Amino acid sequence: MSASPEDLAITVDAAGLQRRIDELALISEAPAPVVTRVLFSEADQRGREYVRKAARDAGLAVREDAVGNIFARWEGGEPGLAAVASGSHTDAIPNAGRYDGVVGVLGAFEALAALKRAGFRPRRSLEVVMFTAEEPTRFGLGCVGSRLMAGTLSVEKAAALRDRDGRTLDELRAAAGCAGPLESVRLPSGHYHSFIELHIEQGPVLEARGIPIGIVERIAGPSSYRVTLQGEGGHAGAVLMPARHDALAAGAQVALAVERAACTSASPDTVGTVGVFRIEPGAVNSVPFRAYLEIDLRDTRLDTRKRAYARIRRAAAAACRRRGVRMDFEEINADPPAEGDPKTIEAVERACARLGLASLRMVSRAYHDSLFMARVCPTTMVFIPCLNGWSHRPEEYASPGHVASGAEVLAHTMASLAA
Ligand code: GLV
Ligand code: MN
Ligand code: MN
Repeated sequence: MSASPEDLAITVDAAGLQRRIDELALISEAPAPVVTRVLFSEADQRGREYVRKAARDAGLAVREDAVGNIFARWEGGEPGLAAVASGSHTDAIPNAGRYDGVVGVLGAFEALAALKRAGFRPRRSLEVVMFTAEEPTRFGLGCVGSRLMAGTLSVEKAAALRDRDGRTLDELRAAAGCAGPLESVRLPSGHYHSFIELHIEQGPVLEARGIPIGIVERIAGPSSYRVTLQGEGGHAGAVLMPARHDALAAGAQVALAVERAACTSASPDTVGTVGVFRIEPGAVNSVPFRAYLEIDLRDTRLDTRKRAYARIRRAAAAACRRRGVRMDFEEINADPPAEGDPKTIEAVERACARLGLASLRMVSRAYHDSLFMARVCPTTMVFIPCLNGWSHRPEEYASPGHVASGAEVLAHTMASLAA
């Protein structure tokens, strides 16, 4: 009979964990300190190999599903019971840093390795997931792996995903060596007992307040849209202003409508961004005949996000009508916010108390695979501070001490839930 989790001396190898984070950061499409690992790129493939090896080094059994989600498992004493799970992603947007997602994968391996070293014997199995394509870079849609696991992305829609070069998910996953039908990715109901994702905060709150651990009570609901504007091109000298149907000028009005809708929302949590804006033909002496925009609109409240969306649609339609520009407005995703599970949150709080670490309940403004795991099992997230709240840039930084504290909190929480 193993000791109760409260009595275990759990020691995280902070230096070893930091070394692995630094090693994985060197696997990148761009030179250090930039980390870029776009889904199924050569760097992502090498990153996945690194993850498999790190899982095996932590004494875990590795399996993969048809979309490339990687599962690393420690079988519990009662294998019939639902497992306690953790995990995150290792894909990285262009020009990213080394901590986003990675801390939640390598940190979870270290948490389980520390539990093994402490002689813990789990009753429930413990599992770490490395989710495929948390970042939307390749397909314009984030959390492809966790959406499929939760059943919120249909297999038909997944099969229709295409990247900018027209390559499909099926084509790319086959080339990456992922076998089997996408249907098999969906988790059977009750598969996991609970899910806890360790992540850098990607915001300034914990650092500013000097608190080492955040516990996520709610994840803002993201939505995104693609807008194609078809105007009329022509010679920049010859087409007089009253005759113009300038797609870029219409797109600029759409972008400003996004900003205005978010700024005038009744919720302070409404945020709107146009992160993609391309024009054709893109020549200085030619009137743009086509513009392509991608809009990201998020909120912790669904009612205010919906009102902001309606305002954007109305303003965009009016601007395009006035300019004689045709608009196609297509929804990519519109996901509700997710609630953290109270009992799982309390388990994290108890772990923090045991470790003498102050904690703060908070909101996640970024989305995470937890947004979809929360649909299939009790879920929360453990946040650690990051420098200046920076993320999605090479300067992203979390101290080795904070990373280790996060892994320690995760180890204690998973042990108490699996005992
Ligand atoms: C995840 O990376 C997000 O955009 O929130
Ligand atoms: Mn990210
Ligand atoms: Mn992330």
